[in-house]
Amino acid sequence: MKLVVTGGAGFIGSCFVRLALRERWAEQVINLDKLTYAGNLENVTEVSDHPGYSFVQADICDEDAVNRLFATESPDAVIHFAAESHVDRSIHSPDPVIRTNVNGTFTLLEAARRHRVPRFIHVSTDEVYGSVDPPHEADEGYPLHTSSPYSASKAGSDLLALSYHTTYKLNVSVTRASNNYGPFQFPEKLIPLMISNALEDKPLPVYGDGQQVRDWLYVEDHCRAVFAVLEKGALGEIYNIGGNCSLPNIEVVRRILKATGKPESLITRVADRPGHDRRYALTNAKLTRQTGWHPRVNFDTGLMNTIEWYRRNQEWVRRIKTGEYRHFYELNYTNRARELA
Ligand code: NAD
Ligand code: TYD
Repeated sequence: MKLVVTGGAGFIGSCFVRLALRERWAEQVINLDKLTYAGNLENVTEVSDHPGYSFVQADICDEDAVNRLFATESPDAVIHFAAESHVDRSIHSPDPVIRTNVNGTFTLLEAARRHRVPRFIHVSTDEVYGSVDPPHEADEGYPLHTSSPYSASKAGSDLLALSYHTTYKLNVSVTRASNNYGPFQFPEKLIPLMISNALEDKPLPVYGDGQQVRDWLYVEDHCRAVFAVLEKGALGEIYNIGGNCSLPNIEVVRRILKATGKPESLITRVADRPGHDRRYALTNAKLTRQTGWHPRVNFDTGLMNTIEWYRRNQEWVRRIKTGEYRHFYELNYTNRARELA
């Protein structure tokens, strides 16, 4: 099998690329990535010399580049991870989010239709369901209720992808995963930000009361689920992917402090995120029933692996935390801390 993986230099896409070659899910993997601030070729060093691996630097909004690639390579499937993936950035500047997540997905779908790509997996998120009141869990038919430009752009692209199945019979499936964590995650998201700040004895900025609930999914489990959908998922269908691990943010932060041996005095309450969803909760019963997939890594083990990885890879973090990252950190956190003061 020959796969085009978009966003294969990012956190989850790079894990998928490494696993696909290591576990022989595919003979050939073409990584299509623009290398935005979140794209990092260091994430795929493990496979850079693999004979089945190649890298194409291009924007998924670039019609010519995408069509050229699909025409010359005739992939068996497109696994579409590329996105602007951070809610806070989408609040500060929605423009690239809408462009990449909506227009970029549209460009890929059009090219897949034109070049008759046999299979298209559109990777999405449980954030499209919005805040889910307890005790409910969203299944795939749960109403969409988006709060941020990020989640709205993902919901828009999900519907567009599904319309290409209904209208043009493109063999699309959509996956909606919960919050991922694991090695190589850009330190703007909760878990890597808190781990790397804790390791540097810096404040851990908790938004609002810290009682917001997220379901945590280890990144390898997510990638295995996407592969299960590629192999066994039904066409035109949506599959939730959850980690069966719901925790309030403050509990996650406390566990990180305990595991790193740092004091709780590092916790700093900062102003809440605008439009902050209170609780994400989903059921992955459909995926388990239809493919046999279930999450393998429990949260304590996954968190330990992740902390250990960040401990051993502080150079990777240090290189990221220069330049653009510092600018974003200032923009996102200095004002938040001031607002609460
Ligand atoms: P990430 O931000 O770590 O990586 C995104 C990758 O996409 C980067 O390599 C970046 O360079 C690339 N990219 C961005 N814009 C591009 C463009 N216009 N053209 C080509 N490449 C571009 O993201 P991630 O956390 O790995 O998320 C991957 C996918 O999984 C996204 O679609 C996201 O919505 C979805 N998802 C993420 C999570 C999570 O917790 N991180 C949970 C559920 C779903
Ligand atoms: P995040 O990792 O940005 O993922 P998402 O918003 O997509 O769920 O945030 C996870 C949760 O952690 C969310 O409720 C916001 C909260 N959070 C903080 O409290 N402080 C932070 O510095 C960050 C980045 C997130």
